[in-house]
Order: sequence, then C-alpha cells, then structure tokens
Amino acid sequence: MVTPHTHVVSAHEDGAIEQAVEQLIEGNLVALPTETVYGLAADALNATAVAKIYEAKGRPSNNPLICHVADIEMAERYVTVSKISALLMKNFWPGPLTLVLPQKTSTGIPKVVSANLATLAVRCPATKTTHQIIKTLDRPIAAPSANTSGKLSPTSAEDVLETLEGRLPLVLDGGNTSVGIESTILGIEDDKITLLRPGTITSDEISDTINLPVYDRDSSQITAPGQLKSHYAPNANVRLNVTEKYEGEILVGFADIVGDISLSPDGNLKNAARDLFSVLRQADKLNPKAIAVAPIPHKGIGIAINDRLNRAAAPRNS
Ligand code: TXA
Ligand code: MG
Repeated sequence: MVTPHTHVVSAHEDGAIEQAVEQLIEGNLVALPTETVYGLAADALNATAVAKIYEAKGRPSNNPLICHVADIEMAERYVTVSKISALLMKNFWPGPLTLVLPQKTSTGIPKVVSANLATLAVRCPATKTTHQIIKTLDRPIAAPSANTSGKLSPTSAEDVLETLEGRLPLVLDGGNTSVGIESTILGIEDDKITLLRPGTITSDEISDTINLPVYDRDSSQITAPGQLKSHYAPNANVRLNVTEKYEGEILVGFADIVGDISLSPDGNLKNAARDLFSVLRQADKLNPKAIAVAPIPHKGIGIAINDRLNRAAAPRNS
C-alpha cells in the first residue's frame, strides 16, 4: 500500500477536522496529534481500515490497538465500565490514561482491533482537534503511535513523516506534543488495578486519587507484545546511567550531568518526558558510536522515562 503523497495540514486550519473525518469515513489512515505522541488513526469499526494500520506500521497482528473515544459514554458502548473504572475516567479523562477493560459482545468492534483478546484498551485523548474528530465521526478511532514498529514514537508531524511518508494520505500537524511519552496503561480485572505501562500519570497519583492500590505487572508475564522488551529503538546503541561518555558517544544529560544535549538542565522530569523521544532522535541523527544517557531518578515520572530508556537500550529483537 503506497499512497504517493502524504498531505500535511495544520490541525488549526479551517476545514482540517472535516478533511480528517472524511478520510476516516473513507477507510483511510490519518496521523493525528494527541497530548502524548502522534497516533496513526483508522475508524475502529472498519476492519479493512484497521488492517491498514498494521500494514503501514509493519506491526505484528497479535499486538492490540487502543480505541480512542470522545467520552465515557462512547467507551460504554464497547466495554464494561465498573465503578472503579468510571472513577478513573472521571478523574483522569480526557488525558494520558488508557484502561484495558472487558469488551462487550456484538459491539461492531472487529477482532483485528484487540488482536482477538476479550479485553479492549480505551483512552480519551485531550487534544481539541482529535477529540473533535472522534466526536464528529461518532465512532472510536483505533490508533497506535504513528511510527513504524519498533522505532521511536513521534512527537511532531515531521517525526511521523520520517517513517510513514507515502503510507497514508493525511497528517494533521498540531505542533509538538505536550506530554511526550505514551499514556499510562492500567489493566482492571475484578477491581484489581495493574500497571501495564508506566506514563506521566503515576501509580502513586492514581492510588492517592482513588484510594486503592495499583499493582505492578509481573514482568515475567507478557499479555501483549507491546510489553516485549526491545521497543522505541534508535539506530545507535543506548548506554544508560552514564556520567562520563566514551569517545564517539553522544551524552544526553539530565540535571547536573550537562552532556551534549540535556533532557532537562534543571532536573525537571515532566520536561524530560516531553523531550525524551525528540532528544533521542536528535542524538541518533549525529550517528554516534552510542547514545549515553545520564541517570534519571527512579521516582514519579522518572519511572516511565526509565521504562522507555530501558527498552531503547535492550538487546534488539528481544
Ligand atoms: O499515548 C498513547 O497511548 C498512544 C497515543 C497514540 O494514544 N498510543 C500508543 O499506542 O502508545 P501503541 O499501540 O503504541 O501502544 C499500545 C499498547 C501496546 O503495548 C499494546 O500491546 C497495549 O497497548 N494494548 C492494547 N490493547 C491491549 C489489551 N486489550 N490488553 C493488553 N494490552 C493492550
Ligand atoms: Mg508504540
């Protein structure tokens, strides 16, 4: 599937929302800005359109997609929302929190979206245009990060074009994303909350808000391939917890470790998350021997940053 021209349209331009909706109705792919990373979107009720996502990304068909909804009511059409799930949605939606919930039967969501699982991941993105697109379409959109499988997630329209140009007709350019790393994913089973992927909404924040424990996922148990170790890989090898670089390396600094580029000179974890993928991409473009990264404190948002860094540093194809 090669679309010779990928048009980039400003998300704030008149008619941008209508163009995106029209493409989605026609069963085509559109890259859209969310607050976390850009998503590669298709109408979630159209199996042929969803199949195009897997094809464009080179994504294994057993790796399920997140359904992006406009609100709790739209989520309830497709998944069973328990009291605890509703509480989480009320507190954190719209925003970077994904919930993996039991899927209702006969909802029209094709099996290809959830890779045949009985659960479905749902999230309500916070960016106005994308929210408006889902509302206008009145259907959820399935959207993984808009990069080819295994590559760094895109935080700008240019990043999307880097790996997907020619593979989709339209990219909505909403500028740089504000959160910068993918949403926190929670699994909720019989009211037990499990952290499946850390993000900027932390376990502690969730736990404090709803007064319930959040359990860590048993890392020996993989329930979906996105949870495999190697992911988010730049071309260069990545070396972590470095305070002094070797010759030929690029040092990515943080706080007191100055480096060649810094994730945040003043040690702000929120800013470090926002800039993580773009800094890794920048470092990679310099073709270094390796990308060395300063230690990031393993607390709060630092846990999510270290998760992404560990995946970037993991042996490839593991
Ligand atoms: O912030 C985000 O979540 C971004 C933006 C575009 O919304 N999306 C994103 O999608 O990161 P993706 O496909 O790159 O990551 C989704 C993760 C994968 O690891 C997938 O395996 C997991 O969610 N997932 C999806 N459905 C699941 C399910 N039913 N059970 C368990 N894991 C699931
Ligand atoms: Mg991804």
